[in-house]
Amino acid sequence: MTTSSPAQLLDGKALSARILDELQQRVSAHLASGGSAPGLATVLVGDDPASHIYVRNKRRACEKVGLNNIHHELPEDLGQDRLLSLIQDLNQDPAVHGILVQLPLPSGFDYDEHEVLAAISPDKDADGFHPLNQGALMQGYRAPIPCTPKGVMRLLDETGLALSGKRAVVVGRSNIVGKPVAMLLLARHMTVTVCHSRTRDLAAEVGNADVVVAAVGVAKLVQGDWIKPGAVVLDVGINRDEEGRLVGDVEFHAAAERAGWITPVPGGVGPMTIAMLLENTLEAAGL
Ligand code: GUN
Repeated sequence: MTTSSPAQLLDGKALSARILDELQQRVSAHLASGGSAPGLATVLVGDDPASHIYVRNKRRACEKVGLNNIHHELPEDLGQDRLLSLIQDLNQDPAVHGILVQLPLPSGFDYDEHEVLAAISPDKDADGFHPLNQGALMQGYRAPIPCTPKGVMRLLDETGLALSGKRAVVVGRSNIVGKPVAMLLLARHMTVTVCHSRTRDLAAEVGNADVVVAAVGVAKLVQGDWIKPGAVVLDVGINRDEEGRLVGDVEFHAAAERAGWITPVPGGVGPMTIAMLLENTLEAAGL
């Protein structure tokens, strides 16, 4: 007879708080030795409510750690040229060490996201979205790593599991999460499968996985009974269910009956993204 034992929680809230404390100590030591505060520029275009919340949380974390936040909140009809010109100014500003343009840019205004991300100086690319940095990640060079994938890997390391040779399934193929997290898992010698909306038998793919990263943005898409017993489940999704509650891309309760470790939503991957953004900014400032 087998008894189901619920998964251990991977607590991103607690881990991110420890990381932010450590970053704060690094900033304090730098200031005490005569250095100036590292600066993160946050650029928010338009009035998407979720983006406002995400950027507010990032700015609060800057304050907590002692980073200087240079914030630009801009109308949705600002236009591509003026946005590019602001990025050029931030690229030139020695007080700015990291630049973040919150995505998505407003739709219906002809913003070219690729051109915007490529305009950020690769040295100030706190998000790790510049095509040069994404190419560097693919080839294993040292470069800023996108924040959510980096946070996912930190949580995965909390399990203490040996990853080499094991199977990882990434559900989602975005440039922000799916593709970079696949590269990071590959660099740890995992056998990586990337699934997406056209994958034929998602349940079978997920059922093979020792590590599942769900990053599609569809509430409860990954069903609990698909999970291989003992697997690590990392849920990147932040969605609202029918009752308006925040839920991930995974059916949490059913998955927790089978998984060995699982991240909650909220309080899992989300807070780690912010901690990694600040860590990238400190690294860009040479701290
Ligand atoms: N939109 C959703 N996630 C992110 C992120 O990590 N960085 C930025 N800039 N925009 C996002």
